[in-house]
Amino acid sequence: MGAANILGVLVLTLLVMFPVSSPVYALSLNYYDQTCPKAESTISDAVKKAMTNDKTVPAALLRMHFHDCFIRGCDASVLLKSVGKNTAEKDGPPNISLHAFYVIDNAKKAVEALCPGVVSCADILALAVRDAVALSGGPTWNVSKGRKDGRISKATETRQLPAPTFNISQLQQSFSQRGLSMEDLVALSGGHTLGFSHCSSFQNRIHNFNSTHDVDPSVHPSFAASLRSVCPLHNKVKNAGATMDSSSTTFDNTYYKLLLQGRSLFSSDQALLTTTKTKALVSQFASSKDEFEKAFVKSMIKMSSITGGQEVRLDCRVVR
Ligand code: HEM
Repeated sequence: MGAANILGVLVLTLLVMFPVSSPVYALSLNYYDQTCPKAESTISDAVKKAMTNDKTVPAALLRMHFHDCFIRGCDASVLLKSVGKNTAEKDGPPNISLHAFYVIDNAKKAVEALCPGVVSCADILALAVRDAVALSGGPTWNVSKGRKDGRISKATETRQLPAPTFNISQLQQSFSQRGLSMEDLVALSGGHTLGFSHCSSFQNRIHNFNSTHDVDPSVHPSFAASLRSVCPLHNKVKNAGATMDSSSTTFDNTYYKLLLQGRSLFSSDQALLTTTKTKALVSQFASSKDEFEKAFVKSMIKMSSITGGQEVRLDCRVVR
């Protein structure tokens, strides 16, 4: 084969692997070494400061990053505010309960003061989440950087996020569409070791479950009773709900232990016990915090490497 032919095949292969419409850029560990060497420590300081005043920050940031990465890649599209007729992702139904956006704003301000226009909001969020997990007692990892911020954010696209009522095949489909495996699904669901859920997210399991059962029979009876007492059928208390696990500000493997006892909140959590493979992973993570942490780190790196976006914003809430 001549050199021109080899080049042709190479270009064709690259085009098939990376269609022109999707941005192709590599992330790297030393991305800001020359342009903003203090970026990471500045972001860590902002996260630490926020956490001393508000223990709910880590959970909020972790979920924010997940919701960002699942829509148009990790491009900080979840941070954009609605403008004019465009309702942004942030105002889409699953994102109404996202909070702690101010932490990213504060980190961005501090980083902009050091190196204007250099560090993307998408990278700030990915780094802040790593710090939040580590500062909650979880593992730490190196974050590759070089993500770009997106210019598009549509509330309607939040319909693509997995719902808490999903069964295992719906979850599998949602994750595989983003290049994530069943192991990633089980490991990342461990994010439910942190935070809080409103009643509406698990209402389906504790009232009018199906035609034969009022309560999902896979929920432990005493756990179901306690959830029903905080979340009655006609709940009027806006912020009523339950913590995701019994140690909801500590990043540990308690979520998996409780899941095996029928003490998880969502149908999507319970669904992890419905295939042999995913159930085996749940058992493995329940019996070893170390195995869970290793798997979580691997899957977080994978999820946070789903790229999108094309610019570096100056204000994380508005396109440039
Ligand atoms: C597998 C599919 C998933 C579904 C269906 C799901 C669904 C939900 C729902 C419904 C809530 C409660 C929202 C509320 O009522 O306020 C929640 C909370 C949360 N989720 Fe997930 N989630 C999934 C995966 C993940 C992943 C992959 C992560 C991160 C790695 C994550 C991290 C969190 C965190 C930290 C919270 C607590 C948020 C807070 O306290 O502010 N979830 N999730």
